[in-house]
Amino acid sequence: MSRVSIIGAYNTKFGYFVDKNRETGEVQDTKSFYDLIIEAGKGAIQDACLQPSEIDGIWIGSCSPSRFVNQEHVGPLSLEVAPDFLRFIPTTRTEGACASSSIALYNAIFAIESGRFRRVLVIGVEKMSLLSTAEVTQTLACSSYWPEEGANGMTFPGLFAEYAKGYMAHFGYRLEEMQKMFAAVSALSYRNGIENPLAHFSKGGVADRLKLFTPEAILNLPATGKGGNPVIADPLRLHDCSPISDGAAAVILAPTNEARAISRRVVEIAGIGFTTERLPLSVRPNMYELIAGKRAVEKSFEEAKITISNVDLAEVHDCFSINQILTTEALGLSKEGRAGWDYLDGRFGPDDRCPVNLSGGLKSKGHPVGATGCSMHALAYKQLVGEPIGMRPTGRLPNIAVVFNVGGSAATNCVTTLKRI
Ligand code: COA
Repeated sequence: MSRVSIIGAYNTKFGYFVDKNRETGEVQDTKSFYDLIIEAGKGAIQDACLQPSEIDGIWIGSCSPSRFVNQEHVGPLSLEVAPDFLRFIPTTRTEGACASSSIALYNAIFAIESGRFRRVLVIGVEKMSLLSTAEVTQTLACSSYWPEEGANGMTFPGLFAEYAKGYMAHFGYRLEEMQKMFAAVSALSYRNGIENPLAHFSKGGVADRLKLFTPEAILNLPATGKGGNPVIADPLRLHDCSPISDGAAAVILAPTNEARAISRRVVEIAGIGFTTERLPLSVRPNMYELIAGKRAVEKSFEEAKITISNVDLAEVHDCFSINQILTTEALGLSKEGRAGWDYLDGRFGPDDRCPVNLSGGLKSKGHPVGATGCSMHALAYKQLVGEPIGMRPTGRLPNIAVVFNVGGSAATNCVTTLKRI
């Protein structure tokens, strides 16, 4: 059990904050990388009822700011949250693909446990929309094992398509069966996301306009044309993929013993499992389970002294619908090979014993890669303190949440168990 708690959190709206003029090619940034950091940082400090001068360290996670916005050296930038008060404190930037800001949180926990820091701001941020889809795809591919994967044209949808194919082959599922399972996963994300005002696909978004709230609605979409569901990387289609998003999120950490004295909204990081897998897909023993992810789950639960039966809600890393199935199984919420069927049976909605991705998940809430880890923690925190943004578990206040954030092709795995105290 860590001796560190979350005492405040903030999530910016996620979306596509850019105006692109198709005729002139002009691109206008309507909410910049810098705006996002400042909004999230200020929001979290305010949510924790702290003064900026009380923050004594900042950890900030971002995946590829040099390629997305031509900006490196992001640590000092985070001082802009409140420059008059934060100037001179230590700042650290972390990188771990889509788990960049969970790694920031992980390191900030040690900083507090060491006794050297008392109030730490953890931020996650990414601004992806200034680039074209092709450029984003190329940038993200840098988080794969470049010599064998990115350099040979492998994309992130392609990497997770390999997991989808491995899963189908191992469990003997036909494409039509798999597509039904994927559609059930995405329909649940769209139903939850529509209620989340901060989601990329909230009201008025593509899922709302096409009413993609049932597996059938997704399965009935045409394969081509506007409003269709084209193949992105076989067997994954458009509605199996998280979108390209901009956004930031932040949390404030404090030692648990002090947190209780200053706040009634305290959520302890009761357990954290952080494992890494070898990067090349070619050396992994199989492609139908998250081997390293399962170890991270074990470690997190062991530290928190719980089992999955104690968990009241889960936020899992559904960068692609296959990964929602794999993370659900790695957590032990479904038996091996059964998660897709469980989603098809209507499991894991708000009225389930353990709802999954009440936020809408990456699929619907959006996936500004460096922000995602912090966002998962921020929204789980809000659920546990009884201030849910969007959907809540039906009829009860949850006590324990688990966050399962994955970086890259499941090479980085961060699983935290959060407990209201
Ligand atoms: N899911 C659902 N709808 C999506 C979508 C997604 N992931 N991405 C875009 N759309 C919608 C848009 O809203 C738009 O609809 P509209 O015209 O009705 O408004 C339409 O599809 C076309 O949008 P566009 O931006 O042209 O899509 P695209 O073809 O350029 O990009 C993907 C689609 C799937 C390639 C892109 O979203 C992607 O690369 N996603 C994966 C990102 C990723 O790899 N992240 C890291 C994971 S580890």
